Amino acid sequence: MLQNKTKLLLMLAILFCAGWMVAAWSAGDPGLGEERVADNEDQIQKQMLELIKKISEQRHQEGIVRRFNQGKGLGCFDADFRVSENLPDNLRKGLFSQPGLHKAMVRFANASEMDDREKDLRGMSVKVFGVAGKSLWGDDGAQDFVLNSYPALFAADPEDFLDFVKATEQDRVWWYFFNPLNSHLQSLWVLYKARKKHASPFDLQYWSTTPYRLGLEKTAAVKYSVKSCSTYQSSASGNVHENHLRDAMQKHLQNAPVCFDFMVQLQTDPETMPIEDAQVIWDEEESPFQKVATLTIQNQDFTRGQSVSDCEKLSFNPWQSLAEHQPLGGINRVRKHIYAQMSEFRNRTNEQRFVSVSTNSN
Ligand code: HEM
Repeated sequence: MLQNKTKLLLMLAILFCAGWMVAAWSAGDPGLGEERVADNEDQIQKQMLELIKKISEQRHQEGIVRRFNQGKGLGCFDADFRVSENLPDNLRKGLFSQPGLHKAMVRFANASEMDDREKDLRGMSVKVFGVAGKSLWGDDGAQDFVLNSYPALFAADPEDFLDFVKATEQDRVWWYFFNPLNSHLQSLWVLYKARKKHASPFDLQYWSTTPYRLGLEKTAAVKYSVKSCSTYQSSASGNVHENHLRDAMQKHLQNAPVCFDFMVQLQTDPETMPIEDAQVIWDEEESPFQKVATLTIQNQDFTRGQSVSDCEKLSFNPWQSLAEHQPLGGINRVRKHIYAQMSEFRNRTNEQRFVSVSTNSN
């Protein structure tokens, strides 16, 4: 009897191991450009959105509701986005398929600080107009790029980002880093290296940190980077104060136009350059960034009240995109609805508050 039971248990164990091995083998390592969607991703995204909305409501119980991330806008600029001539065939895709000039709009922001003297990440959001083709989200005709001033994101994937949002909501971010059962020391390290004092957002290099398709073939993926190519650089020893980045940008424009190289980095190895881990910096020796366009900003009055309020109403979303540049990876997948919903929420609330203020004052 005991022998039969042992035999049965042994059989079950063998079947279980075989099943597990077949599943692992058929999943295999991901190929170039291949996404792997976690089973619970929808759930994670819903939870994240609820918490982000709750935190925003708590932070801005009155007055203007700012963006959840990149809340302090430093300026919005009209710009020219010129796609380079003679690009190699493998880069001549989507927006980059035709050389020529597009009108664009660029917003710079502080990721989390209101005082420009504090160490922080800076954000750069680019909207290119006059783009032929259907957009994956939003209105046709525009292509957005959303970037940060460090090549890696502190969170590897949506689950990781959700842990951070949960800790933020509970007002104990340190728990996210040091929770003994699920510590995020690598995230702490990334943030330590990423947060810096800067002399001007115009002098920096920015990275998408997350990957995007290049063309309609499922095997081509890239990350973006935008790097200053201006002849003029702001002085770090300038007059440093709460809003000094705005002043530095104004001074730059009065002296010389602003120039940025817009570049792509092709994924050449799916293991060392993963799609689903935004914490990994893709090696530039393995695959260098290649320039595909130039972004220029001429002198303009970006500090007028109207220009600032129009800028704050804008919405940038990585999914405002041609299919040829489809956002890839879990972080990008969950951003789609979160950005859409949060932009709608903040603009609706701000409109209601503005209307009620003007109604009260009548
Ligand atoms: C799961 C990951 C992420 C979440 C949940 C998230 C969430 C958000 C939210 C809610 C906003 C405000 C949207 C609005 O009100 O219009 C925002 C803005 C922004 N985020 Fe993220 N973000 C994530 C990842 C990233 C990454 C990977 C980058 C770039 C490397 C980035 C850069 C920015 C920038 C530059 C803005 C400002 C956009 C603008 O100018 O309107 N974020 N993010």
